[in-house]
Amino acid sequence: MAEVIKIEGGHELSGTVRISAAKNATVALIPATVLAEGVVTIFGVPDIADVGALSTLLRELNIDVTNLEDHIIVDTKHIQNAPLISEAASKLRASYYFMGALLGRYKEVTMRMPGGCDFGPRPIDLHLKGFKALGATVDYDPKEGMYHIKAEELRGTRIYLDFASVGATINIMLAAVKAKGRTVIENVAKEPEIIDVANLLTKMGARIRGAGTDTITIDGVEHLHGCTHEIIPDRIEAGTFLIIAAAMGKRIIVDNVIPQHLDALISKLQEMGVEMELVGDSIVVYGRKGQLKAVDVKTQIYPGFATDLQQPMTALMTQAQGVSHVRETIYQTRFKQCEELNRMGAKCQTEAPMAHIEGPTQLMGCDVSATDLRCGAAMIIAGLMANGVTTIHNVYHIDRGYDGIEGKLIALGAKIWREVEED
Ligand code: EPU
Repeated sequence: MAEVIKIEGGHELSGTVRISAAKNATVALIPATVLAEGVVTIFGVPDIADVGALSTLLRELNIDVTNLEDHIIVDTKHIQNAPLISEAASKLRASYYFMGALLGRYKEVTMRMPGGCDFGPRPIDLHLKGFKALGATVDYDPKEGMYHIKAEELRGTRIYLDFASVGATINIMLAAVKAKGRTVIENVAKEPEIIDVANLLTKMGARIRGAGTDTITIDGVEHLHGCTHEIIPDRIEAGTFLIIAAAMGKRIIVDNVIPQHLDALISKLQEMGVEMELVGDSIVVYGRKGQLKAVDVKTQIYPGFATDLQQPMTALMTQAQGVSHVRETIYQTRFKQCEELNRMGAKCQTEAPMAHIEGPTQLMGCDVSATDLRCGAAMIIAGLMANGVTTIHNVYHIDRGYDGIEGKLIALGAKIWREVEED
């Protein structure tokens, strides 16, 4: 038995959608709480499956976790540095943040290989390079899929990242906040979620400067304490709804956003012919002015065009006049959505790291798969635009990262529902 999402396409959407808190900040903030000697309360926690898996991992460390409707209370009073060997670690990529956090607190961590969306190789060599530079040794048992990372002492040092990786930046920051002396991490990623994690750590008593720039400087402290924190809005969920509004919207207000986080997407949508207006912390999308135009997109590290919005964007490109070209520079083979879109009648050609989408094509509802989280978002967008009913399989990927997406779409006028199907 498995759940599917069904969408009857072709309905015009209008109204207001309120964006939830950022998944990719949440999944780092929760592991970061293990560094606090005290109680950390995080507000605005989205209702996504990844939060459940991370809460399970906290409980495996004997941490008291209270999950309330929109916040989580984490009390580390009874924490024990137990090996994280359960399945929960392999349910998501971000479980690797327990490496940095436990190494920072205990100078030792044993944990299972992280999981997450499969859209090509996702190494963690830069994370490990950072841990080693701080004085840790890393052992990996490929048979058990288990890491054991240990240090006598963590000492501040200078670390240069060969690539501005989001995960490595955050993980090294977590390991370094209690290290002896000063750590300087160069060529770091600048994503807003990194600033959010640095803000939480600073409230806990850490001394961090430069988050959001190319260089982060950390002066180690001995103790970190409890605090409260409110998570930033999810720029990828917001971007997904901007694309939905461009595809099917009459007048949609995307509320609770930081428009600056979406500059690259907003300018591409405007280039396609979508009319928008920024009003405070919301974006009003008036829909398209005539036929959408084909555009070229190159994914880049922040503030460039986000790879996480590339897959949803290709769905919209099927409706643009001409050939749109996509160059994926972060994950060169992140194009599984193209095959699914083609099942629906799209004309996408992929030659990694490029995809070419010829439009406009009338999409037809059929059975498709959410092969990964953002492919799932692309399928929802395609389903809303298609003739007939689209059935999306493997919806657990969507539930990992989108908080109440059906409810939000129903409120905008979409015909979308879940069914349980025999396997
Ligand atoms: N990379 C390495 N070595 C490393 C780490 C990364 O070579 O040690 C490479 C990766 O292979 C990739 C590039 O660096 O080519 C970028 O990877 P990064 O580490 O920045 O990505 P991540 O931290 O694993 C986060 C988000 C992803 C998002 C990317 C890029 C989380 C939990 N995940 O992943 O989000 O695509 O940054 O912005 O924050 C999603 O939300 O759907 C998602 C996959």
